[in-house]
Amino acid sequence: MNKSLETQRMEKIVSLCKRRGFIFQSSEIYGGLNGCWDYGPLGVELKRNLKNYWWRVMVHERENIVGMDGSILMNRAVWKASGHEDTFTDPMVDCRSCKARLRADQVIDKKGIQQCPNCGGKDLTAPRAFNLMFKTFVGATEDESSVTYLRPETAQSIFVQFKNVLEVSRKKLPFGIAQIGKAFRNEINPRNFTFRSREFEQMELEYFCREEEGIKWLDYWLEERLKFYENIGIPRAKLHAHEIPDEERAFYSKGTYDIEYDFPFGRQELEGVAYRTDYDLQQHIKASGKPLDYFDEETKQRFVPHVVEPSAGVDRTVLALICEAYDEDTAPDEKGKLETRVVLRFHPRMAPIKCSVFPLLKNNEQLVAKAKEIAGLLRPHMNVFYDETGGIGRRYRRQDEIGTPFGVTVDFETLGEKDRALQDTVTLRDRDSMKQERVPITELVSILTSRVR
Ligand code: GAP
Repeated sequence: MNKSLETQRMEKIVSLCKRRGFIFQSSEIYGGLNGCWDYGPLGVELKRNLKNYWWRVMVHERENIVGMDGSILMNRAVWKASGHEDTFTDPMVDCRSCKARLRADQVIDKKGIQQCPNCGGKDLTAPRAFNLMFKTFVGATEDESSVTYLRPETAQSIFVQFKNVLEVSRKKLPFGIAQIGKAFRNEINPRNFTFRSREFEQMELEYFCREEEGIKWLDYWLEERLKFYENIGIPRAKLHAHEIPDEERAFYSKGTYDIEYDFPFGRQELEGVAYRTDYDLQQHIKASGKPLDYFDEETKQRFVPHVVEPSAGVDRTVLALICEAYDEDTAPDEKGKLETRVVLRFHPRMAPIKCSVFPLLKNNEQLVAKAKEIAGLLRPHMNVFYDETGGIGRRYRRQDEIGTPFGVTVDFETLGEKDRALQDTVTLRDRDSMKQERVPITELVSILTSRVR
């Protein structure tokens, strides 16, 4: 069977991710662990750039949002109160023929007949609820009294710390609490590379507001979040705000949007933006008996705030960034012959390495010393890669393939050997246009920092 272009594209992306050190299978030498992934040297930089940018625009650049970092393990009572222990489930179906365990929505329906997507078998069990939380035990005894779960979302620690954070930050409504951290879900069928994983990271904001302003803030955050994706290099045309219809929404939500992206494997959710009303705080008030409310100094009223929650997946966004960046074009090789160039067109602010620095020749001491000096000059400001091995064209190609947006080359002009006027200047190459400009070394830091911020 011919593979679709999109399947081939995805295969190339997965292979590049491994080959160049973005993403590896977890525990690979032991056969892996389904739904778990390790980020290599470039992947971790990309992920960090994404998280740092989210934190910058969601927390640092806003007066009324503060951050927190909650523990992954929490008192089991949290998950009882939030409803996760009873209802955080996916419907699961077993195929009696091939023994596959399937999410009910993956079962194929052929003219009303249910079929297993693995073996085509029609002998399937009725769907039953499967809780997605990983159970564990705290302390030395493994019994019901020591049960808890790895958190399936970061949001709950924000809700249960609402009062503490409010008191120490002395914020007035509307205000937000942001968190980035790991979450775990025992997904029935992890798939599409890192898209649906069992261990992943979330970037969540709980934005507390007055009830009468809930819908206004929902609309506001949807637009802000769409802008965020554009600002990291995902075009608006590939983003979709899908409004969840009443019958599919959580019963307590008064409005929810999924922000979706056109992945090579189809249109899929990147982030949920949900107006959760006062449901979570009310649940914790009921279960803990503690007053998680807000006192309005002006009106002298005490009430429980409502919440709008933009909740994004780090790993899904990293995958979207890689999928969006992947491109193939043609470029001349050392001898001027056109060859296929694989290039990751990351937005410079997301690129794992911002600038490469090359001496034209590795066996010329002066060129090497100058290039190392320039790399040292740039390093405090950005992630830089120094490379002296192979022809210059090959070195550029290696950087294009990992998405390095800028390349500095130190040549004989830099040393002032050809034209005195060009002494202490270098070529600065742009990954996308492949054009080179000549810039003074003294201006490199300011030129590059302004382009990668
Ligand atoms: N606190 C709300 C919440 O957790 P969610 O829609 O279940 O909402 C939010 O999750 C985001 O977390 C998703 O939009 C997605 O980006 C990410 N996410 C959820 N499950 C995931 C999984 N199994 N693998 C990777 N990312 C996941």
